[in-house]
Amino acid sequence: MTSPIHVTLVGAGPGDPELLTLKALRAIERADVVVYDSLVSPDILALIPTGVKRIEMGKRCGRASARQEDICTLLVRLARAGNRVVRLKGGDPFIFGRGGEEALVLRRHHIPFSVVPGITAALGCAASALVPLTHRGVARAVTLVTGHLQQGGEFKGWSALAQAGQTLVFYMGLEQAAVIQQQLLAADCPDSLPVALIESGTTAAQHITTTELGRLAATAAGLPPSGPVLMIMGEVVRLRAGLTTTLEALAVA
Ligand SMILES: C[S@@+](CC[C@H](N)C(=O)[O-])C[C@H]1O[C@@H](n2cnc3c(N)ncnc32)[C@H](O)[C@@H]1O
Repeated sequence: MTSPIHVTLVGAGPGDPELLTLKALRAIERADVVVYDSLVSPDILALIPTGVKRIEMGKRCGRASARQEDICTLLVRLARAGNRVVRLKGGDPFIFGRGGEEALVLRRHHIPFSVVPGITAALGCAASALVPLTHRGVARAVTLVTGHLQQGGEFKGWSALAQAGQTLVFYMGLEQAAVIQQQLLAADCPDSLPVALIESGTTAAQHITTTELGRLAATAAGLPPSGPVLMIMGEVVRLRAGLTTTLEALAVA
């Protein structure tokens, strides 16, 4: 990063500040201004040095959000004013983070930029909840899916998502739980398919609820709306019980 005029799209990871990469931390420490999402945890915001300007440009389901055009305009304006800008996003900028759109706008305006990956919620939450996303003989593929599948027209891929032997990870799926349940059951997924709902994964507020596809909508409706929730669906969720039991048993021994 030689030229001061630069935008770095930085992934902040799922919440635990220790999951931030060294490269992300260095970019934050060298920034003149940090433009951050509401999903970025307070513990990570605390790492922004005093004197570095910070601007919240939140995007969060169910709450008033900044418009994407306004975020892009701000990034261009700040960079053109000679700032070293960090655009800090929850998880990874290129996984349901609109990082691609921001990068395209920066390219169109001839503003140099780079991307620092972050640990996406699927990986952070799976590790924290002890759910291996792939497991020999259980799941040979993982699909990261947005819960907003029906937006912009009817989604035609439900039967592919219903194939056995894979793990589905739904981002932003909580409000769409009833549609997801109905469509996957219609595509022949079993009622008993296990699901883990992980709220505020990797943080001190992490809360895990397990259920089955046949009860997904009812379980989701009963969750208090607070932190972000990730849905991991597939036979791998059953492995969690064995892994947590083993750890508890080891702790006692
Ligand atoms: C707009 S997407 C952003 C995803 C982000 N770019 C990433 O790579 O993790 C927001 C969704 O990510 C999921 N999410 C992000 N952080 C999470 C966390 N710590 N715990 C649970 N879910 C999380 C939730 O499904 C939330 O609705």
